[in-house]
Amino acid sequence: MIFTEQKTLHSLVESLKNQGKSIGLVPTMGALHQGHLSLIKKAAEENDTVVVSIFVNPTQFNNPTDLEKYPRTLQADAQLIADLNKDVLIYAPAVADIYGTEVTAQQFDFGGLDKVMEGTSRPGHFDGVGTIVKKLFEIVLPTRAYFGEKDYQQLLIIKRMVEQTGLPVTIVPCPIVRNAEGLALSSRNALLSEAMKQRATFIYRTLVAAKERFGTHSPAEVEAWVSDIFARETDFELEYFTITDADNLLHATEKEAGKRYRAFIVVYAEGVRLIDNIEL
Ligand code: PAF
Repeated sequence: MIFTEQKTLHSLVESLKNQGKSIGLVPTMGALHQGHLSLIKKAAEENDTVVVSIFVNPTQFNNPTDLEKYPRTLQADAQLIADLNKDVLIYAPAVADIYGTEVTAQQFDFGGLDKVMEGTSRPGHFDGVGTIVKKLFEIVLPTRAYFGEKDYQQLLIIKRMVEQTGLPVTIVPCPIVRNAEGLALSSRNALLSEAMKQRATFIYRTLVAAKERFGTHSPAEVEAWVSDIFARETDFELEYFTITDADNLLHATEKEAGKRYRAFIVVYAEGVRLIDNIEL
């Protein structure tokens, strides 16, 4: 069932919650792929009802062309969800149902998590994400909400927003889903040629090799090594490769015992911006 109005959906989930039912929310921007479907299946296993939101959120795009080009495939998305044969409600609002006439982002204090990596490359992006996710939580009243680790920085930021607002929702991180060649699934992959989808396995292979190298080299040495590899590539343009503390996303200068680290990469291939990361 597709809801386009928050009022109708909100009354329904409110009455379900009053009956003691749990609600799992999977927020998406549509163009669903197996990565999203894995989140929806997990949500269906752990909750009585699942809500999938499909909304290309304007306030998180800092580039108008990117917003315009973003794939919108509602009918195909609804079919993929129907094929799962699960109890799933779809919320696919127009911009006005979410924002009214004020299409602006709330300003958040994410404690610096938004000042690195994607935050530097895409100013204002995380305020837009925080704004829409907070609004969705208020509309859908989820018991649990599911987010993929491909957008690891987003996941930490949403956890921080939930701590700050005190909204009663458990954030469930879900592992990155990859195609057979190792390319992290993303709606943007639809913009790649078939040949590039095969070639782009190079990104994941580099991450795996960097992880291995991290065992015997410093973060700076691993970063320099990855940068050299990409400098020799003509099909890929490296925007950044960085190793950070996995909990606060601060750039790792040395390895300290007891800390968890993660490597993050952003690469352009055929003009498409691809992101990936790996636990080290
Ligand atoms: O990860 C995404 O697809 C989006 O950032 C999200 C969480 C649905 C908010 O628009």
